[in-house]
Amino acid sequence: MEINWEELKLKAIEAMKNAYAPYSHFPVGAAALVDDGRIVSGCNVENASYGLGLCAECGLVSNLNMTGGGKLVAFYCVDGNNNVLMPCGRCRQLLFEFSQPGMLLQTVSGIKTIEEVLPDAFGPRDLETGFGNDKRG
Ligand code: THU
Repeated sequence: MEINWEELKLKAIEAMKNAYAPYSHFPVGAAALVDDGRIVSGCNVENASYGLGLCAECGLVSNLNMTGGGKLVAFYCVDGNNNVLMPCGRCRQLLFEFSQPGMLLQTVSGIKTIEEVLPDAFGPRDLETGFGNDKRG
């Protein structure tokens, strides 16, 4: 599937402009290409109870599921200066759940796969075996 990085960046910037970040003053926007060709996006939404703030990726995965689901193919995140931003650790996990294997991310050190930025990830398939190290199963 053809990835238009410039378009993804523009969608991420558009999303960033909707950020609600009165506490950190650090607006973030994220956009991703879905395997059916649509683009989903999200912005960070903070809260007076600081720890409850939602990252832009939270909005993005909600948008993904609200608009038909699917798997993420390519991802772009920007800060308030339109510069590429790395998704935080928690958000790499959020993205992993909905990523197509080999999903690409624009990063501060070039294009990388989700597997490179979240090695040996815990994911849906790890739950299929049931009990992990617990031998009760
Ligand atoms: N933030 C995101 O939205 N996504 C990330 O991956 C990194 C951090 C937000 C959370 C908070 O609202 C602000 O950036 C400053 O940490």
